[in-house]
Amino acid sequence: MSSRTPATIAAAVERIRAVLGPAGCLEAAADVEPYLVDFRGLYRGRTPLVACPASTADVAAVLGICHELGVAVVPHGGNTSYCGGATPHDDGTEIVLSLRRLNRVREVDADNFSMVVEAGCLLAHVQAAAEAADRFFPLALGSAGSCQIGGNLATNAGGLNALRYGVARDLVLGLEVVLADGRVIDGLSSLRKDNTGFDLRDLFIGAEGTLGVITAASLKLFPRPRTVETAFFAVPDIAAAVQLLARMRAATGDAVTTFEFLPRIAVELTARHVPGVTDPLDRPYESYVLCEVATSRDDPTLRALLEAALEEAMQQGLALDAVLAGSLAQRAALWKLRESVPEAQRAEGASIKHDVSVPITALPRFVTEATAAVLAIVPAGRLVAYGHVGDGNLHFNVSVPLGEDAAAFLANAAAVHDAVHEIVRRHRGSISAEHGIGRLKRDALARHKSPVELDAMRAIKRALDPKGILNPGKVLPEPDTGH
Ligand code: MLT
Ligand code: ZN
Repeated sequence: MSSRTPATIAAAVERIRAVLGPAGCLEAAADVEPYLVDFRGLYRGRTPLVACPASTADVAAVLGICHELGVAVVPHGGNTSYCGGATPHDDGTEIVLSLRRLNRVREVDADNFSMVVEAGCLLAHVQAAAEAADRFFPLALGSAGSCQIGGNLATNAGGLNALRYGVARDLVLGLEVVLADGRVIDGLSSLRKDNTGFDLRDLFIGAEGTLGVITAASLKLFPRPRTVETAFFAVPDIAAAVQLLARMRAATGDAVTTFEFLPRIAVELTARHVPGVTDPLDRPYESYVLCEVATSRDDPTLRALLEAALEEAMQQGLALDAVLAGSLAQRAALWKLRESVPEAQRAEGASIKHDVSVPITALPRFVTEATAAVLAIVPAGRLVAYGHVGDGNLHFNVSVPLGEDAAAFLANAAAVHDAVHEIVRRHRGSISAEHGIGRLKRDALARHKSPVELDAMRAIKRALDPKGILNPGKVLPEPDTGH
């Protein structure tokens, strides 16, 4: 249980009201409601106040008050977390801190290939601001229209271009962070090289708001892709996809930006549930790859290179059929198919989800072993294992068997997670490749990290947040937070 008394929480709320004014405080039930439930509907919490500061100084003031009074704060971005990382607990003692009003692009420096943005900018807004300066910000997520860059960084999001450009962490030059006690680290450097001791920046990326609140970031930009070719092809299995990735990278001068694996069922579910999605090929196949190659120059040879690589793959039986997008509309249709898989799986009913990674070369064995392990527990479970093969990251999901009751199926979730995660461990993989830990995987994290790693993480947490007010009960089980 939380040790904060109602009087202490009321005092914090009153002082925050005085700092932020009515425009910065949401308290009416209807206004607060969207902040209480996570994206997947797994958690529902309560809060006395959603604080919506409009500046870094205001964030600092809110945290200063909460630190002084020992009141917990839950940072909140676009609420697209899959792990409940931004949802308050249900004891009503935690103040939600929405970053949505910190939404300015502070600077775009095209010649330095960098930009400085505030945490509450929508990812789509960041991408558009880069494009307006003839530059490219490559983080690409299906939720770009609703997720915020601060949340992307706090959770170290991965997405669809990580193969070529890296994950969110790799795209950051510097951060502005408000510490638990309200002090501000102004680390908004735009330097590529800065070899001056501990890298504090990387502590806050992926920490999900448990070590500090990211208020702004200096981001890396890239030349804008000018030639983009998109192919959708059938492959016999994931082993062939892995082999093809290496070949495509070599054949196209390492121009592969996306290499996504889809099993047949993903095509069937999207065609069934998402209006406008159809199977791009004339007959069904076991598995598919959506591959995109891009260069920053006008390059009429790129398509020919891709076609030649696919033709060779077909001769060798590594690819079975293929279609290349011939227009922007066809490209958009292929992307829609890929990006709608989570939505289609949701529409199909209950699912047990995983976000795992293993070394790319271990993917085929991982899939064989994990499939057997899952079917031993849920024999009629429908495997929907799709995702970022180029990063060794699969969403190894299981949909409810046809006709089976959701609750009965979900009762197997813990056993299925344990079985899959044990195979991940054997392959030295990760139980959360890109979705983070939040509340959902907190206990799994504690089982999968070594005692030494957990000790080091706890020591850092204690050093930066000695009162445990920042997003308690997320990422690390902290004995002194009550969660
Ligand atoms: C994806 O790759 O589509 C997402 O990370 C997984 C999901 O939304 O379930
Ligand atoms: Zn993903």
